[in-house]
Amino acid sequence: MKLSGFYKFSVKERLNKIKEIANLTEQEVKLLEDTGALKIDIADRMIENVVGGIHLPLGIATNFKLNGKEYIVPMAIEEPSVIAAASKAAKLVLPEGFTAEAEEPVMIGQIQLVNVGNAVDSIKKLEEKKDDILKICKEQLTNLEKYGGGIRNVFFRTIKTSRGDMVIAEFEVDMRDAMGANMMNTMLEAVAPTVAEFGGAEARLRIISNLATKRKVKVKAVWKKEQIGEEAVEKILDAYELAANDVYRCATHNKGVMNGIDAVAMACGQDWRAIEAGMHVYAALEGYKPITHYEKDKEGNIVGIIELPLAVATVGGAVNTLDTAKVCLKILDVKTSQELAMVMAAVGLANNFAALYALSTEGIQKGHMKLHARNIAVLAGAETPEEIDRVAEELAKQNNYSSEFAKSVLDKIKG
Ligand code: MEV
Repeated sequence: MKLSGFYKFSVKERLNKIKEIANLTEQEVKLLEDTGALKIDIADRMIENVVGGIHLPLGIATNFKLNGKEYIVPMAIEEPSVIAAASKAAKLVLPEGFTAEAEEPVMIGQIQLVNVGNAVDSIKKLEEKKDDILKICKEQLTNLEKYGGGIRNVFFRTIKTSRGDMVIAEFEVDMRDAMGANMMNTMLEAVAPTVAEFGGAEARLRIISNLATKRKVKVKAVWKKEQIGEEAVEKILDAYELAANDVYRCATHNKGVMNGIDAVAMACGQDWRAIEAGMHVYAALEGYKPITHYEKDKEGNIVGIIELPLAVATVGGAVNTLDTAKVCLKILDVKTSQELAMVMAAVGLANNFAALYALSTEGIQKGHMKLHARNIAVLAGAETPEEIDRVAEELAKQNNYSSEFAKSVLDKIKG
């Protein structure tokens, strides 16, 4: 629908307009107006055409220990069971916990050169002027250099396309604790005219790549056979094999990993679209594969490994504007973007392990429905914690989660 000049209205005016068009009640308008911890004028400056805010529950995953340090992990997610699953899998690897390593926080940025004429000649000229190009990049990144980051290198390669050869200039920048999209894109736009001139071509796209293959993180955990049982070890390996050999299962397997990673990303103000995009392309580099790997060690324990690019930040972007993200990062107590990436990958691995464990043994619905039963109890009108617990228990006991049944149980409890 064309809403002429919508962006020029105040938040209140926009909301009134939407209220009128969508026939919203006063109550519904109030729901949108309640932006919680995010002040409306801040929200209005963060994105366009703001009319309100939405909320997600924030929970804490427990039992996480990584490289010997214990973590309290904030997770923002609407799905039940995810936080319980992560906490359970993390508990099962104690006392050792997870071990992790992270690459330097290097991001890749691309400049697309078109109308290159002869691509080989173009690249030759660019190589000759590499130092001049890097100098311009350096000038753009003086602030980042103060923190130990900065331009690391630039490479040139040809891409053959149906619209002719193109040359891609690929820049590597160490972003330290920032995600780096803004810094990268500013630098690329500044250096592009020079790159075009040296390459005898026209510069078109100038943008960061969300396939952050230079910024990978690897996390490992060993779940002992004494903890989970020898039978579960075999069953989890079977479950993993299915994902490794079938893309339909693989998509769901990787979704389970992202349940954990995205939830921490949401809590901590990260660009979860960039993380998702990077993960999926990385998983598809040799045909779509699970982003985790499982094997049995000599003792018969199950070893889980996750490796993926994770472009995350402890400074800059939404981390600076979202007060809740700042608080979550404080709770998590991570000092660098690399540390944050390691924790997030560990949570992803934990969620994946927990899903495989549950799916290949008792299934996930029992635990899931137990949690869901509490929602149903509230919707049926249960108010006190005791009422909620008693209704939920009865639903689980009878394996009947209909709202009618919940209401009848509640009526009985209330007498
Ligand atoms: C549900 O959000 C995630 C799972 O489907 C993951 C999986 O199947 O591995 C349980």
